[in-house]
Formats: sequence, structure tokens, C-alpha cells
Amino acid sequence: MKTICLVSDRIRWDEKALIHAASDNGVKLKLIDPKTVFLSVSGDLSRLKDSFSEIVINRCVSYFRGLHITAILEKAELKVINPFYVSLICGNKVFTNLALISAKVPVPKTLVAFTKEGVLKALDEMGFPAVIKPVVGSWGRLIALIKDRDSAQAIIESREQIHNALLQIYYIQEYVERPPRDIRVLVIGDEAVAASYRYSPKDDWRTNVARGGISKPCRLTDELEDLALQAAEAVGGGVLAVDCMESPRGILVHEVNSTVEFRGLCSATGIDIPGKIIQYAVRMMKR
Ligand SMILES: Nc1ncnc2c1ncn2[C@@H]1O[C@H](COP(=O)(O)OP(=O)(O)O)[C@@H](O)[C@H]1O
Ligand SMILES: [Mg+2]
Repeated sequence: MKTICLVSDRIRWDEKALIHAASDNGVKLKLIDPKTVFLSVSGDLSRLKDSFSEIVINRCVSYFRGLHITAILEKAELKVINPFYVSLICGNKVFTNLALISAKVPVPKTLVAFTKEGVLKALDEMGFPAVIKPVVGSWGRLIALIKDRDSAQAIIESREQIHNALLQIYYIQEYVERPPRDIRVLVIGDEAVAASYRYSPKDDWRTNVARGGISKPCRLTDELEDLALQAAEAVGGGVLAVDCMESPRGILVHEVNSTVEFRGLCSATGIDIPGKIIQYAVRMMKR
């Protein structure tokens, strides 16, 4: 029986679905909770091959934890879904934008600043409303819609008080005039597998399912498919959720997620996404 390792620091609906899908596909899934182990990074790393497996699906919720584990496993010559560079890029919104624009994927207008003075200048250039986001983060956390200069000052001052180096990298984006939804396209390898709309809940402008956003089916048009594949390739490819918004000037990609939550996509489309992820991991084994 083939064995695939699932590294997970939290068993969510998605991880449970992967466990079932592995068993449906005749694969033994070996679960490793990184909270309970340590890894040697001196000497011979090849022993890691015994404790893990040739293919590892790394689904750590913690970006930095996941990244460090992938770095170590790849040095031990294991194949990780997703690879280190893909996770590194997708976990950081500036790095993602840079990869996307190099591949000519349309993105919202975005400015980056490094101090309060710089960010206020950036906001004057951008105009209001504008969106401020942490460069590393998910579930819409600490993302704010800034309506005017006074609220900008208040938000930036509070952020300065949180002594966190990453929160001092200010990511400012135009507020995209979109319908009250965004679009998530799941890409697995070279296939765009499914798409869903995510509608914002009544009390929030953000559409994250973690904030109560509702997933509805979305037709995977040729345009969406091409854009999602182009975006996925731009960041290095793998199992990726390409999130985009319908702007007056066409579809813009605002994020590519490397640790994909696919519950909403499954319920909206009925597609066996966990099964497809397991089958992709098995195909990787043969390469
Ligand atoms: N520039 C924007 N204009 C309008 N809405 C946005 C913009 N950026 C993000 N949003 C909304 O906020 C949500 C979270 O933003 P996102 O960039 O995906 O960050 P996160 O990594 O926290 O999910 C998006 O799904 C979207 O609904
Ligand atoms: Mg998002």
C-alpha cells in the first residue's frame, strides 16, 4: 500500500476529508503533528525518509512552521506539496504580487511602505477608500478598509504599537469596486479543478469563509481557467487556490493560497477535491 505523509498542526474539516479520501483511494495516510516532534538539522538528514514518506502533504496552518518543515524535508530529498518556494511566495502578499506581475497576471493597484510617513504618502497617492493588509496573514485577519486619512492614522498608530516586524511592512491596495463576492479557483498541477463565488456575510465586507463568507457555484469559464493556471504557474505551481475579484477593468488576482481550505469549494461544487489532491500526490510519487 502506498504511503503519503500528512503534516498537520490542526485537523480541520479539510484534513478529515483528506484522511477519508486517502482511504477511498487505497493510500495509507501517515499523520504527523509537528507540535509533537523535533527534527534534526545537523548531520545526515536522510533518516527523515524513514519517519516521513517520499511524498509529504504539508498543511500547517502556521505559515512559518510549515515553511521551516518544508525546507527541512526538501533537503532530505522528500517531495513536498507544496514546495518550499511556492509556499514562501504564496504566504507573503508582496512576494505573490511580484510573481504575478512578472507573469503579466492582472492584480489590484498595490503600494508598499515601511514607515508611518511612507504609508501616509502611499495613501495620499492611492486615495480613499483603500485596503491595508498584513503581508503575511490569512482569514482576512487585520485587513482593514480605510475610509479616510484620520482612520488611516489611527490604524497605523495602533499597528506601530504591536511590535511585530511584519506589521511594519505596510501593504496598501486600491479598494476594488466588485460585487459582494470574490472568486476562488482551485488549481491542482496543470488543471483548474473547480471554482466558487464567495459572498461576504451581511456584517463584513470581506468574503473569507472563515469570517462567514458563503460559497456558491461559479462556472469555470475559459477566461477564469486561463487566468488561474497562469497565476498558479507564476508562483511555481502545486495545489493552489487562486482568489480573484471582478473589477470594472476585468478580473484581478489578489491572492494565491498555498495551504488551501477547500470546504466551501466542495460544498458549492460537489467535486471530490480531497480525492483529486490525493491522486495528485500519488502521481508525484511516480515521477
Ligand atoms: N483590494 C480589495 N478590494 C476589495 N476587497 C478586498 C480587497 N482585498 C481583499 N478584499 C476582500 O478581503 C478578503 C481577504 O483578503 P485577502 O487578500 O484574500 O487576504 P487573506 O489572506 O487574509 O484572505 C478577500 O477575500 C476579499 O473579499
Ligand atoms: Mg484570501
